Amino acid sequence: MGVTLTAPLLLRAARGEVVDRPPVWMMRQAGRYMKAYRDLREKYPSFRDRSEIPEVAIEVSLQPWRAFQPDGVILFSDIVTPLPGLGIDMDIAEGKGPIIHSPIRTQEQVNNLRSLDPEASLPFIKTILQALRQEVGNKSTVLGFVGAPWTLAAYAVEGKGSKTYSIIKNMAFSEPTTLHQLLAKLADEIAVYVRYQIDCGAQVVQMFDSWAGQLSPQDYDTFALPYQQRVFQQVKQTHPDTPLILLVSGSAGVLERMAKSGADIVTVDWAVDMADARARLGKHVKVQGNLDPGVLFGSKQFIRDRILDTVRKAGNWGHILNLGHGVLPETPEENVAFFFETAKQLNALV
Ligand code: CP3
Repeated sequence: MGVTLTAPLLLRAARGEVVDRPPVWMMRQAGRYMKAYRDLREKYPSFRDRSEIPEVAIEVSLQPWRAFQPDGVILFSDIVTPLPGLGIDMDIAEGKGPIIHSPIRTQEQVNNLRSLDPEASLPFIKTILQALRQEVGNKSTVLGFVGAPWTLAAYAVEGKGSKTYSIIKNMAFSEPTTLHQLLAKLADEIAVYVRYQIDCGAQVVQMFDSWAGQLSPQDYDTFALPYQQRVFQQVKQTHPDTPLILLVSGSAGVLERMAKSGADIVTVDWAVDMADARARLGKHVKVQGNLDPGVLFGSKQFIRDRILDTVRKAGNWGHILNLGHGVLPETPEENVAFFFETAKQLNALV
């Protein structure tokens, strides 16, 4: 008989086991605040190269692992990475984010979208995820991620990031049939992609519905929630044991609705007090979060106090310690190091 390997901490907590301390990782933990990343970016100026050349993406994913040993190591990629495989050409512009060259605005364009064949259009994902699992073994949990239908549709329809979402809202409120077809198509293809990530080694998968917080609650119920459910239901049918996390930016008004998505874990941002989030969601819903990324500009004492406050409010079950959103590019690396050190000593501190 081989040696029985204990599952890593984050995976156990995500499955609902009682653990000694909350596992900790940081959204956007690979990226611009790290000098090692900025140096590599000079050598590989194109984001698509950095995320699609396996050796480079593996190296970037592992930079925070080597520096801080977080309990979760996330695949370095982007939510728009699968779009070319659907026939939606894209690029990621420095300082701007995703650019879609021919935005999807008509029924005909929706009809012409292809089905995702991950082996063919995303072969690098398998190489990257397998290498990450190999590298971290059972010392950390490998996370995959995808964008949710509403958020990917926002990029596909707007053609780039937006402050107002006028184009997609115009479509939602005047031509909803076309948009619903796009959302349904995206949901089915995203489910295929999540399954593929799990088959390639992702142990937990987070779905980013970053721009669903731009919808009023009634529109969230029409355009975001049903398609989050559609993805999670399809994934659970074939992969019932992989924990799934949902993030919505600016989610304070839809927190209870997020719990209806079928996600195992709901991300909470810093606009909601963690104790209030627990009270609103009920004690059976697992949570992730929720420090203000700006806290990492504070003193060490301040950072420690905020970690302790969050952990006490979250209680000792079903909590993954994280920021409420991505780490900011200007964050001092030594404060990130301090955040992880402190979080990993928590069984002694609380
Ligand atoms: O967490 C990680 O370490 C994995 C890396 C990751 C990236 N994008 C790399 C990236 C993750 C999880 C994403 C998801 C993503 N991409 C989201 C959802 C998360 C969120 O913030 O709500 C969204 C909305 C996108 C779309 C996107 N891609 C944006 C808004 C930007 C940033 C534009 C900017 O310059 O500020 C990108 C580009 C991008 N993706 C960067 C990184 C590290 C920055 C560009 C770079 O490093 O060259």
